[in-house]
Amino acid sequence: MKTRREFLKKSLFGGLAIGMTGDLSAMTKSGEVSNSLMQPPPTPPRSPMPPMPSIPPALPRTGKSAMGLRCDPIPEVRAAFIGLGRGGGHLNSFANTEGTKIVALCDLMPARIENAQNILKKAGRPQAAVYTGEEDWKKVCERKDIDVIINSTPWELHVPISLYAMKCGKHVATEVPIALTVSDCWALVDTAEQTQRHCMMLENCCYDFFELTTLNMARKGLFGEIFHGEGAYIHDLRDLKLKKEGYYKMWRLEYSKKHSGDPYPTHGLGPIAQIMNINRGDSIDYLSSMSTKQYGLSSYAEKLYGEGSPEAKFAYKMGDITQTMLHTVTGHTLLVVHDTSSPVPYDRIHKLVGTKGYAIKYPEEKIALDPHAHQFLKSDDFKAMMKQYDHPLNKFIGEKAKNIGGHGGMDYTMIWRLIYCLQKGFPLDQDVYDGVTWSCITELSEISLNNRSNSVDVPDFTRGDWKKAQPWPVIDMAQVLF
Ligand SMILES: NC(=O)c1ccc[n+]([C@@H]2O[C@H](COP(=O)([O-])OP(=O)(O)OC[C@H]3O[C@@H](n4cnc5c(N)ncnc54)[C@H](O)[C@@H]3O)[C@@H](O)[C@H]2O)c1
Repeated sequence: MKTRREFLKKSLFGGLAIGMTGDLSAMTKSGEVSNSLMQPPPTPPRSPMPPMPSIPPALPRTGKSAMGLRCDPIPEVRAAFIGLGRGGGHLNSFANTEGTKIVALCDLMPARIENAQNILKKAGRPQAAVYTGEEDWKKVCERKDIDVIINSTPWELHVPISLYAMKCGKHVATEVPIALTVSDCWALVDTAEQTQRHCMMLENCCYDFFELTTLNMARKGLFGEIFHGEGAYIHDLRDLKLKKEGYYKMWRLEYSKKHSGDPYPTHGLGPIAQIMNINRGDSIDYLSSMSTKQYGLSSYAEKLYGEGSPEAKFAYKMGDITQTMLHTVTGHTLLVVHDTSSPVPYDRIHKLVGTKGYAIKYPEEKIALDPHAHQFLKSDDFKAMMKQYDHPLNKFIGEKAKNIGGHGGMDYTMIWRLIYCLQKGFPLDQDVYDGVTWSCITELSEISLNNRSNSVDVPDFTRGDWKKAQPWPVIDMAQVLF
């Protein structure tokens, strides 16, 4: 009888021989050797990892910090709107807020200009000046009678318009994400610091009702120390992305053709980053991303355009589900998920995990608190708690916001707050550092994905100011805190 050692030796050599010769047939004659066939096949060599691209380093500051930036009060806020798809909603919010003047409208599509003028008419406002040329946004920024530019154009135009607006002395509020690359993020920071103009990203999800209420609960200490948060943008956009009438020149599909990564991190990240004091007491240190391959766009394109269509056959770069983990300098973590191509319900997660409790928004708003945190609060207790901790901003402007609308009201609350802060000369709730910190995930997640999910440093765009900055307070209009 063979010893166990001899048996293993033979099996090992058998396995090696198979690996070297690739000739399996000769090995099946003896029982011992066939045993070695049960070994998994040799792992193919890994593809060599490309060198990590270098991320632009932080250079010395050339202007003055824009953290907590206060500018001269503007009793009547004069605004111009560039891009009037999503921008039409912002126009409606402005037109329904006192102390504003709508000076100019800029879009390439006549129907959108007409719709915008109708919004003004309905709100009893005079018609605005119209700009329809490809580069007319420059003329709009150059006008002397405008205080703030509302930039709701496709992604590629966010940075050029924001930079030009600030250089022309205007405040600028730009849709999400505010930038797509780290070097563009630095350009926005440097220009805001040099010009001392507000450069806000219009992250509306920070103003949704449950998000604001959980912020209030967090500030009151209900969850203890919040050490983990999760957010997402899970929204089935296959139809909008793949139909020619969806987005202007199909800009969103074009991005999915050329890029992987998470191009839309800010809806999920913004609210949890504010609650977890990112840039105000904590700072994101590094991230790591992982993504599935893509099925959604190809299979949906097959249905829309047929199996052999160019849309169905295209090798889209963006995976269906991208998950990015962020690690902060204080040892907290955040998870951000992106999926716009799967047949799944809308979801932004909004999960908070603290030392004393837990909150989650989707698929249903729920709270769990120590010492009974193994169960969610019962319906009546939950409702009572939501009422008790309703954010003062919800109480102050929530009803009007719901009436005017825009994603259930959060869009109006955001625009109303922006106008209010400009009128009073207060710092904005979201500054340039927030906008770029939440947006830089776009390029950095792609770099991580292209490098087998290796971790990538996240720049500190505040250049150290996060250490002394105060967390965003709970805004109580009855006793304004600034
Ligand atoms: N925060 C949110 O909830 C939310 C919702 C939708 C869209 N968005 C963001 O808003 C932005 C616009 O999205 P959308 O859905 O309105 O896209 P869209 O394609 O429907 O509209 C873009 C508009 O920009 C105009 N435009 C393009 N180039 C222009 C130029 N050179 N000068 C002037 N106008 C120009 C187009 O004519 C079009 O009307 C994107 O950044 C998107 O991410 C945010």
